[in-house]
Amino acid sequence: MRVIITGASGQVGRALQKVLTDQGLQILQIPDFDGTDPTPKFDVADHAIVQQLSALRPELIIHCAAMTDVDGCAADPDAAYRINAFGTQNVAHACLRCNAEMVYISTNEVFDGRADQPYREDDRPNPINPYASSKRTGEQMAARYLKTGLYIVRTAWVFSPGGHNFPAKIIAAADAGKPVRVVTDEVSNPTYAPDLAEAVAKLIKTRVYGIYHFTNAGYCSRYDFAKEILRLSGRGHIPVEPITLADYPRPSAVPPFTPLANTRGAESGIELRPWQEALKAYFAT
Ligand SMILES: NC(=O)c1ccc[n+]([C@@H]2O[C@H](COP(=O)([O-])OP(=O)(O)OC[C@H]3O[C@@H](n4cnc5c(N)ncnc54)[C@H](OP(=O)(O)O)[C@@H]3O)[C@@H](O)[C@H]2O)c1
Repeated sequence: MRVIITGASGQVGRALQKVLTDQGLQILQIPDFDGTDPTPKFDVADHAIVQQLSALRPELIIHCAAMTDVDGCAADPDAAYRINAFGTQNVAHACLRCNAEMVYISTNEVFDGRADQPYREDDRPNPINPYASSKRTGEQMAARYLKTGLYIVRTAWVFSPGGHNFPAKIIAAADAGKPVRVVTDEVSNPTYAPDLAEAVAKLIKTRVYGIYHFTNAGYCSRYDFAKEILRLSGRGHIPVEPITLADYPRPSAVPPFTPLANTRGAESGIELRPWQEALKAYFAT
């Protein structure tokens, strides 16, 4: 199968490249940055990519590229929409042109976080910040273009070796001797990118399209996640101060409770291990 991965240098993109290459799929390289040209040649928000992508005749595009800095999206909602919504529309348009399937990686943040139990795939999204609404609009735009052949995979709190992620930030703060203050009232599912990539690799064989919730099993607060990060990395003696979202104002509104329930993937036998086991694997690499 001929596959394009957008955002291939990111946490999820790197993990997908490894898993899919190991499984013998052909990863097509998309035009990259030209070192002599300050303007990126590959920008999902540029309509020219519809032609660039479809010219490669992929059978599947896995769309991971996104503006993932949630507070950055709040500061520049136009950029968030350009990249996350219209960029996704461009990728879907390219898929339509060459009759390719599409996987769109989306987010727990499409929900408002006011539930009292994990969100199922058919629960109603209600984004409360610009990152979330741009990603939700991306889901809708992709679905408008692709009446079939579209998988939307929502995930949460992604971490992987070498990525900009929560475990890396907690360890950096602890090692710099800074106080580690973490919120107790933001709750979701930590997700190890290699586990997510394995799940996506299984999903694309099913041809059962639609919305999926793929995260590591179980959920926790950011505070509990930080404690486990420090414990498993041999820094369990470092204190973590519990705070609340109200103590830590951010440019972007935070949906407080957004664990995702993987009900549809489980029906196809696709389940991810508990997040604590995944975190152990992260520290073992
Ligand atoms: N990280 C999380 O906790 C999380 C949670 C839920 C859902 N997600 C979703 O999962 C997907 C992958 O996230 P990730 O953690 O792998 O993100 P990441 O590590 O921040 O990587 C993002 C990727 O997108 C590329 N990119 C950004 N803007 C682009 C543009 N205009 N044109 C082309 N490429 C662009 C980046 O390229 P450069 O590095 O060259 O800029 C990078 O390869 C995203 O769709 C995100 O919304 C992530």
